[in-house]
Amino acid sequence: MQAAVDALPRHGVRVLASSSTYDTDPVGLVLDQPAFLNACVRIATDLGPEALLDACKAVERERGRTQPGEGGYVVKGPRPIDVDLLLLGDTAFRSARLTLPHEQVTARRFVLIPLLELDFDLVTPDGERLSDRDILGFCFVVVAGGSDTTASLISHGVALLSERPDQRAVLIDDPAVIGGAIIEFLRLESSVQGLCRTTIQDVTIHDTTIPAGEKVMMLYGSDNRDQREFGDDADRLDVRRAIPRHLAFSSGPHFCIGSHLARLQARVAFEELLALHPERRARAQNLRSP
Ligand code: HEM
Repeated sequence: MQAAVDALPRHGVRVLASSSTYDTDPVGLVLDQPAFLNACVRIATDLGPEALLDACKAVERERGRTQPGEGGYVVKGPRPIDVDLLLLGDTAFRSARLTLPHEQVTARRFVLIPLLELDFDLVTPDGERLSDRDILGFCFVVVAGGSDTTASLISHGVALLSERPDQRAVLIDDPAVIGGAIIEFLRLESSVQGLCRTTIQDVTIHDTTIPAGEKVMMLYGSDNRDQREFGDDADRLDVRRAIPRHLAFSSGPHFCIGSHLARLQARVAFEELLALHPERRARAQNLRSP
């Protein structure tokens, strides 16, 4: 990604600032894709929209991405890089291959967030900008949503392993399994057991219609033990279980923004804990998993 940023000046594009990199969230079409990293750069250029897009595509080509019409071109799925033009000042532009502002600016959080990192005063194509209250609220959610949840994940994991020495032994023998075990801990003892939503339209699920305007409690903890998804042993700890999907971090537009950080923290905690104190146990109470 950095190599692509470094290449832009050779194509008449000056890079003024770069955002951090962000992981994709499993939202919409992206559900089917492997995770990839996303970042934005603020630029200065004399190029017009089409020429600027050509510059982006030239950089893609230099970094190994095949172009449309050439064998091996990939629209979605694994590809070396995708360099897109999102906003060009206030320019509104539409051609066969380019729309400005880019429609994904507000549709995808992993596109909008790096843009906001570069410019807190950003006015999105629909005319919105963050108010001080939005920013404060967001800080609160990050602090509140990120602390107890991760601490609970680690305590739940310790408690679960205390009940199942055989599973603890698997992790001690093969620490590479710890990353997957973290998801199994989250599945069985989800830090966020449930949250509320209000329906904005009638929704029918399994032949039951919930009218618009109803409060709905989504029980992530219960979903995560659904036998239809996880089989007859859904209530049992299996650190080697393959878990293609779960709801401990929710799903859709509010998917947890800290999921990668939380998993990293928990993985490091268990790698260290099991290496330093392989025999340490906790007295587990109220666990629902044998
Ligand atoms: C094991 C740890 C964690 C769990 C189980 C967890 C779970 C969740 C869940 C279920 C949601 C969705 C809320 C909803 O559906 O309305 C959520 C959202 C969120 N989480 Fe986490 N979280 C964890 C760690 C973190 C960390 C470490 C951070 C920040 C550093 C964080 C920040 C957030 C934020 C900002 C949101 C709101 C996203 C949005 O509404 O767009 N979380 N989290």
